[in-house]
Amino acid sequence: MKNRICKILDIEKPIIQGPMLWVTSAEMVAAVSNAGGLGTLGFNGGYTTRVNTIEETAERMRVQFRKIRSLTDKPFAFNYGIMEGDGGLFSKACLDVAIEEGVKYVVAAGDAKEDQIRALKDAGLTVIFRPLNPSIEAARIGERAGADIIVATGFDEGGSAPENTLGTMSIVPVMADAVDIPVMAAGGIVDSRGVKASFALGAEGVFVGTAFITSEESPAAQITKEYIVNHESTDTITLKTPVGHERALPTEYIKEQIGNEELGNIPSRMENVTRAYLDGFMTGELEKGAISVNAAISIIKEIKSCKKIIDDLFSGIEF
Ligand SMILES: Cc1cc2nc3c(=O)[nH]c(=O)nc-3n(C[C@H](O)[C@H](O)[C@H](O)COP(=O)(O)O)c2cc1C
Repeated sequence: MKNRICKILDIEKPIIQGPMLWVTSAEMVAAVSNAGGLGTLGFNGGYTTRVNTIEETAERMRVQFRKIRSLTDKPFAFNYGIMEGDGGLFSKACLDVAIEEGVKYVVAAGDAKEDQIRALKDAGLTVIFRPLNPSIEAARIGERAGADIIVATGFDEGGSAPENTLGTMSIVPVMADAVDIPVMAAGGIVDSRGVKASFALGAEGVFVGTAFITSEESPAAQITKEYIVNHESTDTITLKTPVGHERALPTEYIKEQIGNEELGNIPSRMENVTRAYLDGFMTGELEKGAISVNAAISIIKEIKSCKKIIDDLFSGIEF
């Protein structure tokens, strides 16, 4: 059984593990790829300390790429941020390392910038484009720029959620209708019902983040995994940020953010979110940290291996 996504990505099951700052380590990426999906290395994946320069972050990716290769001979991807200015320099440094290391698949997330997507294609990469603000127009720009796959992400997602608040049910079908290339669904997919619904909505695969945070191979602190398993979707708090929204569990840090009217925003994403995720996810200092999750965490009730998560997601699913 190989649908278009499986053929493009050379994988067995049409699932991509989405990149997640700090959390998506070499071990998780390799476990997902070994289980038949496509693992994606995220920035600072697996590390628990901060670095000060762009070059150091990029070199960390090199170390992790080599580690992934020592753990699997299957395909895997890396995260590219479509950004301008200093952010652009950061993205370029990571891209250069990925190309030097021969990585073939990229998850490019950001605004629909045709030139940047085309440059990734010109570099010989297979491009999975995930607009942070999903829309019909963003899907069409991605297709025109040569992307191989588009990801339609609903507001239900964990991490940085869209500025517009369109849920997965609403955004997936319109983006799937808008382009000829395959579309994957993201946002709140944590069990086989979510996968089935994604296919019914016109997606040809699923793009999953939060469900892997609590995997056995995830480097997240044990206390964080248990905190997620023990909370319900209704416990989450959604904040406005300068680039969209953030849904997080009710740690002290997050509660303080709501109290601050001016912030009502999480300020300066790159600085603060990076720090708050480090404490929330990796060092397990929950009170200082942010634990961003999707709207479906009520369904996550146990810590499982990546293989079991993927097998359960695709249980009874035909594609
Ligand atoms: C904690 C967390 C961190 C994330 N960090 C990133 C990131 O650094 N880059 C990125 O492109 N997407 C990031 N995402 C988004 C995921 O790649 C993925 O699109 C999203 O988690 C899918 O929705 P789901 O969480 O409902 O499965 C993050 C998501 C979470 C939950």
